[in-house]
Amino acid sequence: MILVTGGAGYIGSHTCVELLNAGKEIVVLDNFSNSSRDVPEKIARITKKEFDTIEGDVCDPETVRKLFSDYPIDAVIHFAGLKAVGESVEKPLLYYRENLSGAVNLLECMRDFGVKRFIFSSSATVYAADNPMPLTEESRLGCTNPYGWTKFMIERILEGACKADPGFSAVALRYFNPIGAHESGLIGEDPKGIPNNLLPYVARVAAGKLDCLSVFGDDYDTPDGTGVRDYIHVCDLARGHLLALDYAFGRTGIDFINLGTGKGTSVLEIVRAYEEASGKKVPYRIAPRRAGDIATCYADTEKAKRVLGFCAQYGILDMCYSAYRFTEGTDD
Ligand code: NAD
Ligand code: UD1
Repeated sequence: MILVTGGAGYIGSHTCVELLNAGKEIVVLDNFSNSSRDVPEKIARITKKEFDTIEGDVCDPETVRKLFSDYPIDAVIHFAGLKAVGESVEKPLLYYRENLSGAVNLLECMRDFGVKRFIFSSSATVYAADNPMPLTEESRLGCTNPYGWTKFMIERILEGACKADPGFSAVALRYFNPIGAHESGLIGEDPKGIPNNLLPYVARVAAGKLDCLSVFGDDYDTPDGTGVRDYIHVCDLARGHLLALDYAFGRTGIDFINLGTGKGTSVLEIVRAYEEASGKKVPYRIAPRRAGDIATCYADTEKAKRVLGFCAQYGILDMCYSAYRFTEGTDD
């Protein structure tokens, strides 16, 4: 059985669907601090499979210990944590406490219960800003905000855990920019408040819930001057976790793997793709650059292909269309 922490969240819920569709047994731990209580039921509806969801905090030792004693867990996929970059700059101690203590708490329980397979949600944000593109797993590491440093530090914690126990296996998946939603339109990304990330913002502008997109800079050294990122469909990303799980069961030690498409897409290309997918206009204006942004960021995907057999299948139009379908179904 696989413990999925943060399984009601954006990436976690799509991964639960993949796991259940592949015939895996799962148990979800989530405190719903950034997700809705009806997500587990939607996952069950999509997959027609039953599973238990425990409402609780991954940082709480008693909760996690009880979970390990109640369920025959043999692997953990750890999504739970705080993820807003701006908030992490304002509240660094909160981010260090929540993200680090959640991971350490899980790892201690795993050690005590003899569970030895761990998949971790890392991020392309662990790479230093001045690397040449594409980013390989060997690119230089370095972060610019506390959120990024928590990812960096948990990767180092996992290195230590693997060194201390030669039977332990950990895979840190470095995600690029996940967007899109499940084809059912039932689950997707629905941030609370005004979105920080591009796609949810674009979706709300197209839906008439926000007036106008601010394009953060059109003077970057990119083909159309706007920022270029490696957007990956969340369902492709979810499938990557299934492959990483198989990989973790066949080896020991730690490995780091990029999950992206290897292709860069600009902000204006996203705007046009979303307009095409939705049939709606996305009014935008050019605004100053956002502090901390870089011009271009995309993955070298060779390692994911080689060690996991992973290759992203969906294109930008699929990503925008699925996000549109999901947004149409939400009512805020
Ligand atoms: P999300 O916020 O949608 O999901 C996280 C889930 O964890 C939520 O359901 C939340 O309620 C839960 N959670 C938070 N703190 C918890 C706690 N202490 N105890 C129990 N549950 C808790 O985020 P997401 O986009 O699905 O991201 C999942 C993971 O992937 C995060 O670790 C994030 O840092 C990482 N990541 C995300 C992105 C991205 O762009 N979405 C990119 C790189 C890495
Ligand atoms: C963000 C996170 C990063 C995380 C990554 C993947 C920040 C500062 N960084 O990076 O840690 O790993 O997501 O999820 O939040 N843009 C606009 N207008 C907007 C919003 C965004 O023009 O309203 C542009 C940005 O300048 C950027 C692109 O769109 O060029 C993508 O932005 P965003 O979705 O926030 O992702 P990242 O900046 O890549």
